[in-house]
Amino acid sequence: MGLPSGFVELLLLYGIFFLGLAQAKVHYHDFILTETNFTRLCSSKSMLVVNESLPGPVIRVTKGDTVYVNVHNQGYYGVTIHWHGVHQPRNPWSDGPEYITQCPIESGSNFTYEIIFSDEEGTLWWHAHSDWTRAGVHGAIVVLPNKETGFPFPEPDGEEILVLGSWYVGDVNEEVAEDLENGADTPRSDSYTINGQPGDFCECSKEGTYRWQVDYGKTYLLRLVNAAMNAELYFAIAQHNLTVVGLDGSYVKPVITGFVMISPGQTMDMLVTANQPLGRYYMAARQYDSARYDVTDYDKTNTTAILEYRGNYTPSADPIFPSTLPTYEDFVPALSFTSRLRSLANHDHPVNVPKNITTRMYITASMNTITFDYEGTTKSGLASSLNNVSWINPSTDVLLAYYRNMSGIYTPDFPEYPPLLFNFTADEVPDYTTTTIQGTKVKMFDYNEEVEIVFQGTNVFDASEDHPMHLHGYTFYVVGSGYGNFDNVTDPEGYNLVDPPKMNTVSLPKKGWAALRFKASNPGVWLWHCHLDRHLSWGMDTVFIVKNGGTPETSIREPPPNMPPCSSSAIRLQRLDNSGEKIN
Ligand code: C2O
Ligand code: CU
Repeated sequence: MGLPSGFVELLLLYGIFFLGLAQAKVHYHDFILTETNFTRLCSSKSMLVVNESLPGPVIRVTKGDTVYVNVHNQGYYGVTIHWHGVHQPRNPWSDGPEYITQCPIESGSNFTYEIIFSDEEGTLWWHAHSDWTRAGVHGAIVVLPNKETGFPFPEPDGEEILVLGSWYVGDVNEEVAEDLENGADTPRSDSYTINGQPGDFCECSKEGTYRWQVDYGKTYLLRLVNAAMNAELYFAIAQHNLTVVGLDGSYVKPVITGFVMISPGQTMDMLVTANQPLGRYYMAARQYDSARYDVTDYDKTNTTAILEYRGNYTPSADPIFPSTLPTYEDFVPALSFTSRLRSLANHDHPVNVPKNITTRMYITASMNTITFDYEGTTKSGLASSLNNVSWINPSTDVLLAYYRNMSGIYTPDFPEYPPLLFNFTADEVPDYTTTTIQGTKVKMFDYNEEVEIVFQGTNVFDASEDHPMHLHGYTFYVVGSGYGNFDNVTDPEGYNLVDPPKMNTVSLPKKGWAALRFKASNPGVWLWHCHLDRHLSWGMDTVFIVKNGGTPETSIREPPPNMPPCSSSAIRLQRLDNSGEKIN
């Protein structure tokens, strides 16, 4: 005798469901943004940070929790904050990019973000999403698995968070504003940092070098965030292997490696076992520079922190430097590392790659020039584009304009294909391809469309380099990538539809392509952009609007009270009308 087994299963299912619900927690944080004094590289300045710390506070949640962050802006200019990699189902209101989903939180005011976690698990991060303020305003987000599932690897003995950043001796927002105004190249960082510190190899930095103490024999979960402004970075720990187990808030099949290449925007989880002779070992990062040597003089600092064993021993004079760290312009290790990443694709962590593609897009990413008016004369300046459109931020955010049906803010005509076909990756690209048009052009999707996008890097302006492409509101499967021009007949034959990695930021290889797929199941207004901030400032971004699905559960939620009002205070590329007159 007994209950029918189907019924028992149903009961069990409900049990698990309610357990899951009961466990979802709500957390509250206050983020106080203030100008704070910092001394690095022998020089002092004040910089906007959260709660007087660099990097800022860690947000720690369990999968599925909700967090309210009340952001109090006590700085001098308007700011917004983005929760990078958090999908925010139906809740674009709290996504953060300025002039896309909200207007800035002006100086002296505050705004409470509601950050809704769903299937993310691992490490993510938060950062300012206005101008270049994120140089100081950023921090890690830790998403723990729930008790029932646990980690898909043996429970680590401890945890460590390393945030890689960029340090500028000057006031970076001021410098960028000036450069954008006269069309010049944007500032180069003066050093990279690990947890806010340049480390032993930089001037006046030895004192502050970040240290991580470990116990022999233990295995740690190392959470690495690339918060650098404009650089992909190589990272390694001397004499210790890294076992990469997660990327962008999703697990991957373990990859054992001597180094990683991490793009700005990306987050990586890796296991590190302290199994080497007691001593001190450098953890080091340096730029992986994919641009032409003579394009810009990039930041060649080696930022370091020290991994230090606890115990009784006489440390050698200097810690050991990682011999596995690739050199700046070596692209082979970058490619070989990223090509090893695969989703777990198992029962607890299934993959669900869209197979019935309803919308295909082919999007070129280029460096360009635009002509503009500078103090009465026509000048040409730097720009960048997607499908030859350089995004211009409107003065009222796109989300509000869409939600309230306001016209004249954006146009729904972002092109699905490049306007001109030519040999995108040739060494010599025709001159007529360098000029871009400016616009606020968005792409509309119906709810639940299955989308494939092939990003194509170009050598327009002889300025090809990697572009870390980031989509808000979603993660996507990277089903393929390669060098040269994408071939729409042969290249799809090589797609990985079985266990492609799931990312929110993919490195589009220099003079190459990357193919990705996602299902447009999150209604809202979502920004797409290159996560090199100079390219974002120059217009390498666009917006996807995913329409509602027709029921309340498939529609954008109501806006929260007290969205910051729109009044324009941004640093932006100048927008021109046809007569060359400035608009905005
Ligand atoms: Cu890290 Cu638009 O994001
Ligand atoms: Cu870019």
